[in-house]
Amino acid sequence: MSTEDVFLTSTYAGKVMHGVCLRPDPHTVNRFWGRWMLRPRQESDHDLVVSVSVGNDGGMGYVLITGASSGLGAEFARQLGAYGHHLVLVARDVHRLTSLADELSSRHQIDVEVVAADLLTEDGVERVTDRLKNTSSPVTTLINNAGFGLPGWFGDSTIEAEQDQLRILVEVPMRLSYAALQVMPHGSRILNVASTAGFTPRGTYGAAKAWVISFSRWANVHYAPRVHTTAVCPGFVRTEFHERLGADVSGIPSWMWLDSARVVREALSDAAKDRGVSIPSKRFKALTALSRILPDKAATRLAGRGR
Ligand SMILES: NC(=O)c1ccc[n+]([C@@H]2O[C@H](COP(=O)([O-])OP(=O)(O)OC[C@H]3O[C@@H](n4cnc5c(N)ncnc54)[C@H](OP(=O)(O)O)[C@@H]3O)[C@@H](O)[C@H]2O)c1
Repeated sequence: MSTEDVFLTSTYAGKVMHGVCLRPDPHTVNRFWGRWMLRPRQESDHDLVVSVSVGNDGGMGYVLITGASSGLGAEFARQLGAYGHHLVLVARDVHRLTSLADELSSRHQIDVEVVAADLLTEDGVERVTDRLKNTSSPVTTLINNAGFGLPGWFGDSTIEAEQDQLRILVEVPMRLSYAALQVMPHGSRILNVASTAGFTPRGTYGAAKAWVISFSRWANVHYAPRVHTTAVCPGFVRTEFHERLGADVSGIPSWMWLDSARVVREALSDAAKDRGVSIPSKRFKALTALSRILPDKAATRLAGRGR
């Protein structure tokens, strides 16, 4: 760990305090767990905020991220790697994972493991659960992020495609959370990437994300303070998601798009405050609040835009 200056921001007991101190070593960080966020000191950019995730072994824990080869998963890896977290990167594209791992390990002097796994296969899920259960280098933060949507509405897709979507969005995070919760040390975290679609009537994708939000809110109460769980609920984010989906996004106004760096910063900041739900950006907080009070017909019409 380097000893560059940082602001320390305490959210302990509801009070926010700011200060500057040396970037602490992992043992010092351990004492701050759950109460402190580190904010790098920069002239103009006060955006980078990250929770410090360590287990009770006194060292920096590993952060395991599914879907780390692109989009939000790769951004989680970049931001957490920059703070000295050791990483376990999971996805199918081993070349992209290895290239990201090489870049981050040499830039930040961290351990970065690569687990090539297709999470739609039993073998792929088992490979990841085995790594979660390896307590010799404990995973203290699990980020369930891998996911995709389907191009058509329910009834237009094949039933096999629907089963795959349900598996990647619900069954996989459920199984990985189950495995992690068996072994995670005190002060660990789970972040489940859901979507604002989980708050609105939006086909099977929205229904799957609603499961993730509901489960995370419950787990954040039930397993606290040993493990805190946060559902991360972005709106439209510029990643490969829509391209892979083959969706026409030309109708989505530019103000509705968020960039992945901002989404991840806000998600980590909310997780550091032990929040059960994170909705990055004021505009999507407002839209989500609106969709909750609209009648189903209007909410469904609104949520149907942008496929
Ligand atoms: N972008 C948005 O507008 C948006 C909005 C709300 C929520 N989300 C959610 O954000 C999460 C991340 O998506 P993204 O936007 O970052 O999209 P993305 O750029 O397409 O990334 C998706 C990631 O999931 C991985 N993945 C897909 N299928 C997989 C499989 N079978 N096994 C293992 N990994 C698999 C992909 O890696 P490989 O192809 O290498 O396997 C990739 O790393 C998803 O859960 C998505 O539902 C996205």
